[in-house]
Amino acid sequence: MKVALLGYGTVGSGVVEVIRSNSESIEKRAGKPIEIKYVLDLRDFPNDPINELIVHDFNVILEDEEVEIVAEAMGGINPAYNFAKACLEKGKSYVTSNKELVALHGAELLEIARIHNVNFLFEASVGGGIPIIRPLNQSITADEINEITGILNGTTNYILTKMKDEGRTFEDVLKEAQELGYAEKNPAADVEGYDACRKIAILSSLAFGEHVNFEDIPTEGITKITKEDMVYAEKMNCVIKLLGTCQRQDDNVFARVSPMLISKSHPLAMVNDVFNAIFVKGNMVDDLMFYGKGAGKLPTASAVVADIVDAAKHKGTNIMTIWNREKIDLKAKEDVRVAYFVRLENADAGLGERVNEIFGEVKQVEALNGEYAFVTRVMKEKHFSEKLEALSDVKVLSKIRVQE
Ligand code: HSE
Repeated sequence: MKVALLGYGTVGSGVVEVIRSNSESIEKRAGKPIEIKYVLDLRDFPNDPINELIVHDFNVILEDEEVEIVAEAMGGINPAYNFAKACLEKGKSYVTSNKELVALHGAELLEIARIHNVNFLFEASVGGGIPIIRPLNQSITADEINEITGILNGTTNYILTKMKDEGRTFEDVLKEAQELGYAEKNPAADVEGYDACRKIAILSSLAFGEHVNFEDIPTEGITKITKEDMVYAEKMNCVIKLLGTCQRQDDNVFARVSPMLISKSHPLAMVNDVFNAIFVKGNMVDDLMFYGKGAGKLPTASAVVADIVDAAKHKGTNIMTIWNREKIDLKAKEDVRVAYFVRLENADAGLGERVNEIFGEVKQVEALNGEYAFVTRVMKEKHFSEKLEALSDVKVLSKIRVQE
């Protein structure tokens, strides 16, 4: 089975390494040898044996009928979208780790794959090496999914873990994460939550079978989280995690990416460093948790190669994936119900009383540095904002959602 690889960066070179290291077992599982025939990259690699497979023109791959599977590890929408479409229309299966592409065009590319009786597979686009796309698509199919909540970004989880364990600032640990190669080229994609947003959009679309537009998902990153917030979290027996979530609430579905305070007893609280985990609640199977390395060369490449094996095994058969192009109307973010942890500066005598008057009963938290800190009851986001507005004369140092 001849494969072409698009992109010889971190993940692309990992794909070559995985196929070469495990060629025997991969051949057994795929039922045939898997051979990389071409690697498309703008660059040449004169000191790497891969150089003899390097091509610079995508059409060489597209027009070669021997190539039945194309694996992409370039990232970004252009030219990946055109490449994916062209390959599927030519009857080649397309495997990708590119979450931007899948979040934006997944429904359409799945439809094109179905029409041409090939496969569009994207296990590596969410959670790196963690199997989650295939379980949602092929294993948990007897359930209605009520919730998916995940730590979906390794860089931010690494940063939050170090801030908590070592009392360091956000900026300091971000630099280290970049040096370790975890962060995206543009750190905003990680720290502002955009990467997690695309990943939860993909998972929600698969869970609910209709398209969840990533632009409709309210997204907040971790740039405002401070060392002091970490101290409060510890006092409350909680940790702060960047969570991507989609849940049924009342008769609607809502999705969100934001930092959340979660109790140390929650299974996601124990997920540290660059690890990711995805918690799924089905109405029959109940709670499931998928855990592993959500970023990095070989874990991500392992998922790409697993998709190549699946595409080889299913030659001539489309693996049905339910993700319609019809868009889900998500619950308006103002109507989502949630509790908040709030820190106010300079607690004057009487501030506690005012807070209780405005918010109703709150849970006061033992405060640092003369602040006033509390957790609200669960209320609609819009009611929380209105109530906080009534305290506009007081400086709000932090407001972080609390996972129930
Ligand atoms: N920058 C991403 C992360 C890479 O840190 O999780 C994997 O998508």
